[in-house]
Amino acid sequence: METPKSLQELTKMLHEIFKEDSINVEEVTELMESYKSNPQDWKKYAIFDKHRYTRNLVDEGNGKFNLIILCWGEGHGSSIHDHSDSHCFMKMLQGELKETQYHWPTGEGGEMTEKSHKILENNSVAYINDSIGLHRVENVSHTEGSISLHLYSPPFQTCQVFDERTGHKTVAKMTFWSKNGERTPFQCAATKENN
Ligand code: SIN
Repeated sequence: METPKSLQELTKMLHEIFKEDSINVEEVTELMESYKSNPQDWKKYAIFDKHRYTRNLVDEGNGKFNLIILCWGEGHGSSIHDHSDSHCFMKMLQGELKETQYHWPTGEGGEMTEKSHKILENNSVAYINDSIGLHRVENVSHTEGSISLHLYSPPFQTCQVFDERTGHKTVAKMTFWSKNGERTPFQCAATKENN
């Protein structure tokens, strides 16, 4: 497999792969891993907010996937969430993130149970889907921001978020802080930030 020399080349190669009806998780993981992060490629999408992590749309993948850059300020994190039956690939572009995976709640109430956790280092790629479980993603650093590139296929607009103490779930709408480097109008831009 050829190595993408830029984010733009990676995006083109992803378009080719996702023309197929079925996707090979290992192939996509390896391709995303082989791209060595270069801030010149993605800095126009890397728009931070001081209060919460931001979701910045890079490419709509011909309707087959969404490619999104997430910017995580110090201490920012997502809630525990599912992926609406989609694939989720997450590649580190800068800094580190902590991913904690959880089992689906049993429906009987009570604290959710952790399945595993790991630190995602620069250029690494993590993968999750609903059959693997749920996750929370956090920038645990008090001094550095983190930036990650997420591919969701098929794209989705809502997901379920879970209360860690009870397993109670609600539906959250997912929105973009910017699209193609342009800030989206204020009223549309919220995330499912941890609270
Ligand atoms: C994720 O699902 O990996 C991060 C959260 C998000 O897309 O908002």
